[in-house]
Amino acid sequence: MFTKHPKNFTFNLDDIRVPQKYYRNVNNMRGANPGDVWEFSHIHYCQGNRQAHPTQKPEGLIERIVLASSSKGDNVLDLFSGSGTTQRVCQQLSRNCTGVEINPEYVEMTEDRLAQPFSGFDSIDLRMKRVPFDLSDPDIRQEYVKQHKHWFLKNHEGDIEEFEKEVARLYGHVNTRKKTKAPKSESQSGDLFTFSQLGT
Ligand SMILES: C[S@@+](CC[C@H](N)C(=O)[O-])C[C@H]1O[C@@H](n2cnc3c(N)ncnc32)[C@H](O)[C@@H]1O
Repeated sequence: MFTKHPKNFTFNLDDIRVPQKYYRNVNNMRGANPGDVWEFSHIHYCQGNRQAHPTQKPEGLIERIVLASSSKGDNVLDLFSGSGTTQRVCQQLSRNCTGVEINPEYVEMTEDRLAQPFSGFDSIDLRMKRVPFDLSDPDIRQEYVKQHKHWFLKNHEGDIEEFEKEVARLYGHVNTRKKTKAPKSESQSGDLFTFSQLGT
C-alpha cells in the first residue's frame, strides 16, 4: 500500500482479515493477516454482473482495497473508472466515489450499473469461505460459524451456502439456518473468543 504521509493514513486491518486455518486458543479467530497475494478469478462472460467492458475488475478485489484504505463517508477517486466497479463497490460500502472515464459509453454503463438492485458482490477472495480445522467443540463451533458470516461474508450472501456445506463436510452437520442476511452490526463479538489486534 502506498501512502502520502508516513504516519497519517487509513489501514483497516480488521476489515480485510482472512479466516484462520485452525481453531486454536492462541489464534486470533477474528482472522489472520491477509498477506501480500490475493487471488481472484476474472469476471467471466457468463456471470450476471458481467458488463460490456473488456477489463472489468472483480468487485471482491476492489471491495478489499476500499475497505482497507478508507472509512465510511470517505471520498474515493478512480481516475480510470471503466465499467464503474469502484463506484458500485463504494455505493454499497457507504463511501463517496468520483469516477473519471473518457468513454461516454462506459459512463452510461456505470450509471445503469449503479441503478441495479444489489444482491452481493460478484466475486470473493476464496479464503473467506474456508472453515478452520479443529473446531471440534460444538459450542465453540456454533459460535464461530455465526461470527464467521458476520466477519468474512458480509455483502456475500450468495457464498454462505457453500461455507455452510464446508462446515457440514468437515464436522458432519451445520445448524440449520433460516434464510437471513449476514448480520450487519459493527460491534458484534463472541463470548467464546478473545481477540487480539496483534494476533495473526
Ligand atoms: C483498465 S480500464 C478500468 C476498468 C475498471 N476498473 C472496471 O472495473 O471496469 C481503464 C479505463 O480508463 C479509461 N481511460 C483511458 N484513458 C483515459 C483518460 N485519459 N481519462 C479517463 N479515462 C481514461 C478507458 O476508457 C478504460 O475504460
